[in-house]
Amino acid sequence: MNVRHTLICFFFLSLQDGSPISVYKRTEGQDMSIYCTFSSSGNIRFFCKNECKEKGDLLIETTNVTAQIGRYRIEYETVEPKAYVSVSISQLTKSDSGRYRCGLNRSLSSESFSDFEVIVVDVILYGNPPKVKTFHKTTGDDLILQCYSILSGTRRYFCKEQCEDKDILVETTGVSAERDRYSIRYEKASPSGGFVYVNISQLTRSDSGLYRCGLSTSFSPDPYQEFRLVVTDALTTSQPISTLPIHGWLLYLVVPVGIIVIISVLALTVICFWRRYKPNGLNTGENSDGINMKVVPDCDYENFSPNSKY
Ligand SMILES: *[C@@H]1O[C@H](CO)[C@@H](O)[C@H](O)[C@H]1NC(C)=O
Repeated sequence: MNVRHTLICFFFLSLQDGSPISVYKRTEGQDMSIYCTFSSSGNIRFFCKNECKEKGDLLIETTNVTAQIGRYRIEYETVEPKAYVSVSISQLTKSDSGRYRCGLNRSLSSESFSDFEVIVVDVILYGNPPKVKTFHKTTGDDLILQCYSILSGTRRYFCKEQCEDKDILVETTGVSAERDRYSIRYEKASPSGGFVYVNISQLTRSDSGLYRCGLSTSFSPDPYQEFRLVVTDALTTSQPISTLPIHGWLLYLVVPVGIIVIISVLALTVICFWRRYKPNGLNTGENSDGINMKVVPDCDYENFSPNSKY
């Protein structure tokens, strides 16, 4: 649930139209590198999440020319009179989506930092059908995709399978909309066209199918992009633990059976030797009470004789 709310927050936080900050889109697993340009140099270079106000927002602060902490990296370069701070994040995940700040001097002067936004999506769709890509996700995941059209339409929609009226999952004539587990957001691209972002949260297996994001335009047919989604169950993380009881159970079965087999073999061996070497006269097969004592199965030892070639 938290993930879902975070994503929806991220969707609506990013709505302020005409906000001057740059937005960079990347897909999961990609690396990202962004240059911030300054009109003068500075001794301290920093890279923050958000506005550097919260504890933990400061990703890197350094006086060196390059510095790296985990997946975050900062590089500094001057070409007089300008200074450049390059900030990078490697192996992007969706939780890297958000606002960032890169800067110099750690001063509050707006000349000394610049903000940008990163949106990490699963899928960026370009081009028109019939190119239908297939994407695999596991249950419980969220899916964020970006569709792009060189045309800008009045209505943006996201639909499944045949895309008749009942198949419309979420649509908007404005900037964004949300319905059940689906949300949609539109961003105008310059000089023409636009991006449609679609989010499905908390995927289930029944979400598998063919999807389409489209724009209603005065052209016919509407420009749209399609993709196929396959949702499979997540591998349970408890799997190594759940195999343990099976091993334990096997142990309970195998050990007693093994012991019984060993005891039986030993007993048979002892009895066969006893039968082989006991006095001949007593080999009647009956005891004094007339009860047949020959309960021991025949064994090869009986066929052995001291003269045998074996
Ligand atoms: C950083 O601080 C130095 C010294 O105070 C100043 O000359 C320079 O202009 C500052 N740079 C930026 C980008 O604010």
